[in-house]
Amino acid sequence: MLAIRLTAGADRLDTLVLPVRSGDATAGSEAPAELLATGAGLPAEALEEAAELLPATRLTGRSGETRAHLRPGRTPARLLLLGVGDGGEKDWRTAGAGLARAAADETQITFALPADVPSGAVGALVEGLLLASYRFRMTDAGKAPALAEVDLLLADPEAYRDAVETAETVARTTRLARDLTNTPSSVKNPQWFADQVAAAAADLPDLHLRVRGPDELAAEGFGGILAVGAGSASGPRLVELEWRPADARTHVVLVGKGITFDTGGISIKPVPAMKLMRKDMAGAAAVVAATLGAAALRLPVRITTLAPLAENMVSGSAFRPGDVVRHYGGLTSETTNSDAEGRLVLADALAYAERELRPDLLIDLATLTGANAVALGKRMGALYSENEQLAADLLAAIDAAGEAAWRMPLPADYVEHLGSDLADLHSSPAVGGGSVTAALYLREFTGDLRDRWLHIDMSAPSWSDGDDAELARGATGWGVRGLLRWLATLD
Ligand code: BES
Ligand code: MN
Ligand code: ZN
Repeated sequence: MLAIRLTAGADRLDTLVLPVRSGDATAGSEAPAELLATGAGLPAEALEEAAELLPATRLTGRSGETRAHLRPGRTPARLLLLGVGDGGEKDWRTAGAGLARAAADETQITFALPADVPSGAVGALVEGLLLASYRFRMTDAGKAPALAEVDLLLADPEAYRDAVETAETVARTTRLARDLTNTPSSVKNPQWFADQVAAAAADLPDLHLRVRGPDELAAEGFGGILAVGAGSASGPRLVELEWRPADARTHVVLVGKGITFDTGGISIKPVPAMKLMRKDMAGAAAVVAATLGAAALRLPVRITTLAPLAENMVSGSAFRPGDVVRHYGGLTSETTNSDAEGRLVLADALAYAERELRPDLLIDLATLTGANAVALGKRMGALYSENEQLAADLLAAIDAAGEAAWRMPLPADYVEHLGSDLADLHSSPAVGGGSVTAALYLREFTGDLRDRWLHIDMSAPSWSDGDDAELARGATGWGVRGLLRWLATLD
């Protein structure tokens, strides 16, 4: 990860980055961009040159926009003008991402920040730098960005230390979620995922990990996880990771769908739909990474995180369409489509949380349905909850963190579609509104926590087809940033 250094003195002036904000929007779209006044200690002639250059650059100040200017034989040797937009956190994050890409071939740069920049803006800038410079590769071959160090020039560096450390933790854990999700399923089976959690948790005190294997799952009645994992040579696991600080008053349970590959099972997916199904554990990656982040930040909230892990395969031991599965706690599901596997493993975890862990709040994240993208496109999660306050709080945290979700309904009229002649519930009613019916199904396992439960279908925003602001092509780590923002508001 890029090293961020806070400094009051421009001691390594080779490439100097200067912020440019958009012209005043109220003055009309033609309003020129402006250089923002930075702190003292920079060569005056370089600043004058930048000011003279600005009109000719045709910069608008839009966040992430850049222009480079060479000054051979002088100090600094390069000026980089960077648009920072309207000065809001979202624009600073995008500016950081644009800077990471524009300066990818430098080894070190110095960014002179505006004299009065808020600490939230600097945190967002750091997130943008660290998230856009992310690359996932299985080997060391190929071109990695050269950029290794970014000096942030500030009048009072100490005032920004906490914001930058928090941003670094948010970025590091988001990058971990991306790594887990990008890893091919030839490597990533349920035991591998559990091992990664153990390795990451070992670095942090006060985290407790329990991993259940097939025998324990069978003894305790986790029939959904066992059914979905039955077709795979790599057996299922249930990861239970707890962060329990002494001063916590609120207990949150986070649940994440952890299908390490989803073939669809006997109801096999066609080729295009199966292509990216190694990402079907992005929910588990997000909740685990957020929990590690909360522990690193020592947030005063108790968190128990459940990741039901299974590989949904096609084989002679796979569960069949029409099988009836008995979940943790005793509810049964008729499973006419083995591709609706995520809800079967989540059902066990939700029922276990409600019966055994008794949290104050119950949240789950899952790459649950293709219908998420049909309803909301590729960048938004579908958020469901009966709890107005909880929904509003999560939506606000997700938005502030630079992610996006939209609240969706849980219509009473549709509950009848969950009926089955064989079992308590039907896991895959063919009535449309797939993301909504999946949410209604999960709600059946929340017992008396029903109005303290929130579910996010995040299949769409878990992946990005290309580089886009702070997102790098591939897994996005969606959910880590929003969850950490939200967890930081609890006590
Ligand atoms: N893992 C998929 C959902 C998915 C689709 C995630 C596309 C990411 C991108 C899930 O297990 C699934 O197959 N859902 C089915 C449900 C249906 C069988 C009721 C779907 O969405 O088609
Ligand atoms: Mn599926
Ligand atoms: Zn799936």
